[in-house]
Amino acid sequence: MSDVVALRAARVDDAERLYAWANDPVARSASAQGEPIAWDTHLAWLTAVLVNERRHLYVAERAGAPVGTARLDRADDEPHVAVVSLNIAPEARGRGVGRALLAALTAEARALGYARLRAFVKASNEASARAFLATGYALVGDAALGGAAAQRYELEL
Ligand SMILES: CC(C)(COP(=O)(O)OP(=O)(O)OC[C@H]1O[C@@H](n2cnc3c(N)ncnc32)[C@H](O)[C@@H]1OP(=O)(O)O)[C@@H](O)C(=O)NCCC(=O)NCCS
Repeated sequence: MSDVVALRAARVDDAERLYAWANDPVARSASAQGEPIAWDTHLAWLTAVLVNERRHLYVAERAGAPVGTARLDRADDEPHVAVVSLNIAPEARGRGVGRALLAALTAEARALGYARLRAFVKASNEASARAFLATGYALVGDAALGGAAAQRYELEL
């Protein structure tokens, strides 16, 4: 499989695919809040994110097909830091898409002027930890995510 992944800005007409990916059980268990998400909650969230200048939401495409999503959120008290989230479509996982997406996201964050990227990864999420380490992030400390043990990873840009 090609490891070339392109990022484009998410749109309101991505709502259904983003909803399906977000409610995938593996994605729910990887995130801070593990409960299933209601459609109305999702739509309100997406609508707000798309107009929030502190948040950048992307859809990743490989060969023109959507394969996942990622987000850069400006850190509250550190305007040079962006917090990274990503979720690969269930059928596309385990084939290098996560690593390729993170590489593309690094270039995007640099272009936006960020100086550091930060990610929080549950200790149980081996695939995510490996994807961050493989794309140059360093493990910088422990954290908690939704009450579960997690680690903080950072990349200087
Ligand atoms: C975690 C996630 C982003 C990784 O993306 P991916 O496309 O599946 O992973 P890749 O194929 O790019 O592989 C990344 C690394 O994880 C390893 N890996 C992939 N699937 C794995 C699995 N199920 N278990 C353990 N390691 C795995 C790969 O071998 C690779 O390691 P390497 O670089 O040391 O060889 C993706 O699986 C996902 O979206 N999961 C659900 C949501 C989530 O966990 N998001 C991240 C929250 S911090």
